[in-house]
Amino acid sequence: MTPATHSAASLLLSLALVFIIFHGAKATVITFTNNCPTTIWPGLLTGAGSPLSTTGFELAAQATAKVAIPPPFSGRFWARTECYWNSTGQFNCPTGDCGTGQVSCNGAGGNPPVSLVEFTLAADPTTGNDFYDVSLVDGFNLPVSVAPSGGTGRNCTTSSCHGNVNAVCPAELAVKGADGSVIACMSACDAFHLPQYCCTGIYASPATCRPSTYSQIFKGQCPQAYSYAYDDTTSTFSCGGGANYAIVFCPSN
Ligand SMILES: *[C@@H]1O[C@H](CO)[C@@H](O)[C@H](O)[C@H]1NC(C)=O
Ligand SMILES: *[C@@H]1O[C@H](CO)[C@@H](O)[C@H](O)[C@H]1NC(C)=O
Repeated sequence: MTPATHSAASLLLSLALVFIIFHGAKATVITFTNNCPTTIWPGLLTGAGSPLSTTGFELAAQATAKVAIPPPFSGRFWARTECYWNSTGQFNCPTGDCGTGQVSCNGAGGNPPVSLVEFTLAADPTTGNDFYDVSLVDGFNLPVSVAPSGGTGRNCTTSSCHGNVNAVCPAELAVKGADGSVIACMSACDAFHLPQYCCTGIYASPATCRPSTYSQIFKGQCPQAYSYAYDDTTSTFSCGGGANYAIVFCPSN
């Protein structure tokens, strides 16, 4: 073979291998359930990995939807609430809005304050472990839980944020809906932009950024969720063995 045909042949071989490896990996199935009394609109953002089959959809009360995700993947999921189409036909959500004017988020994240479910699937190709958490670092809008099935490991357990932070949200952090009820609760970082709440500047380490009276309100309602940036020890969960996951919004209703 000439050098040119040789390199073309190795390129084809590498492409074939990539194709086989990609298709050999089993997709992780994430089931979204809306246990809230009203319709919600989940949003999905890919940080790394292949684009998902959906970036946002409507989920009626008591409805369930499945999304298959081929690992490796990292990204976040959340719920938008109280959404409506305005007089010019644009989709708007008072909580978790992704600003596209559509149900699809198309690569945009949810506006804080919003409860986030964060996933890294098969981050380590040798162990194939998944990592997941519920994060209130960007505030809270709805209770949410993540339950693995079929995975292995001692931290392969349900992470549930079933407390209602809105019910105990301090006035200076509260976001109110049209009827005056609290629909979301801001993080102290988003409300005050101070380094000690945002874990920036001299507070940019686990040793210097400590829980605040504000973060402790979130932690009190949701002990298994991140309440500030360095809340790792009680908030990170992980599974090996190709688990699937169930995300439930308003788990304790
Ligand atoms: C409709 O919603 C879009 C997107 O938020 C906004 O830009 C626009 O101003 C709204 N139109 C009206 C008439 O409220
Ligand atoms: C399980 O989580 C604890 C803290 O939550 C952590 O110290 C430990 O390293 C984790 N174990 C594994 C196997 O990931």
